[in-house]
Amino acid sequence: MNSAIEIKKNIYWLGVNDRRTHIFENYWPLPKGVAYNSYVILDEKVVVLDTVERSQMDNYLESLEAVLRGRKVDYLVVNHVEPDHSGSIKALLCQYPDITVVGNSKTFPMLQNYYGITDNLLEVKEGDSLCLGKRTLNFYMVPMLHWPETMVTYLPGDNMLFSADAFGSFGTLDGGIFDDQVDLEYMEEEISRYYSNIVGKYGAPAQSALKKLSGLAIDMICATHGPIWRTHIAEIIAKYDKWSKYETDEGVVIAFSSMYGHTEQMADCIGRFLAEMGIKKIRIHDTSKTHPSYIINDIFRYKGVILGSCAYNGNIFPTMEILLHELECMGVKNHYLGYFGNKTWGGGALPRFKTFAEKIKWEVVAEPNETCGSMKPTDVEQCKAIAEAMVKKLRGME
Ligand code: FEO
Repeated sequence: MNSAIEIKKNIYWLGVNDRRTHIFENYWPLPKGVAYNSYVILDEKVVVLDTVERSQMDNYLESLEAVLRGRKVDYLVVNHVEPDHSGSIKALLCQYPDITVVGNSKTFPMLQNYYGITDNLLEVKEGDSLCLGKRTLNFYMVPMLHWPETMVTYLPGDNMLFSADAFGSFGTLDGGIFDDQVDLEYMEEEISRYYSNIVGKYGAPAQSALKKLSGLAIDMICATHGPIWRTHIAEIIAKYDKWSKYETDEGVVIAFSSMYGHTEQMADCIGRFLAEMGIKKIRIHDTSKTHPSYIINDIFRYKGVILGSCAYNGNIFPTMEILLHELECMGVKNHYLGYFGNKTWGGGALPRFKTFAEKIKWEVVAEPNETCGSMKPTDVEQCKAIAEAMVKKLRGME
């Protein structure tokens, strides 16, 4: 199928949907698939901006050929080298061997290491321009959004920002390609999950990029995943601003690991007390069932986090360890923390939670509780104490 759509005179979206890949970066779930977006500008020179993942190469090159109508590609702008966008570069260069590859000083070593590409390179720096004829491209570096080489390309006059992964989303484009053509409510979790899972670690670089780009007039944001933004530009930029400042809403994420149900009982008990105290946004997750992707996404939304785990082999339960490790690696900021454990004999969860709290620097709101097996009346009281302390913190009462 030809998947090229003209989004502005002589500017085309060349996107492909991937509904077969189950996990992104071989880790993050893709229940609604993912789209890879490439773009083409036809001027006196022809430029392609980023390509698509290798598995979609054949459809992509077919669509490109249809758009070109016999013309050749002069430039390939590589805003981001991650293979979901660079995977078709070698095939593109085979088909159009005279292409000049445009990137920055950090782009080219990566292209060499991944694909052995060393020739016909044009290095650009912050603020450099490339004239295509009637149109000119401007380049801005946005390092660590989310790789070191990442840059964005701006097209003045048309006021289009080719933003690489920034403002992207999981989920395929099921017909519509613009933000006003798709069901944004349906895509909402995939948009925030993309941010929290892929970009979330890089709040400070995202803030720097937002500041750098704030002076540009932007009528269209063309990201490499998800919809093209043209109607809700202010909203998506505001979301990025909020997320990258680690600003959250009132709510509590409770994540537990439980072998025989006792730790889950404690999670439910705390959830009930929170509800009685008026907290509505309560999200309880079982780490054995729910991928960290979704739990982390909720943690980016809500300020309160309460974690509970049974002991396992003298340590914390393995699936809780995965969640803690991921949160530590991401360095998620600005949360209140409560935690609790459960043991049959020696325990092991609480020391790990303590280390986690110290490492991630979240404020611990209450003394942790550790019970033995099923909940006793004192455990109910201690769960209540954790819930109360969390609500007081969330409401600024302490
Ligand atoms: Fe969509 Fe960082 O690649």
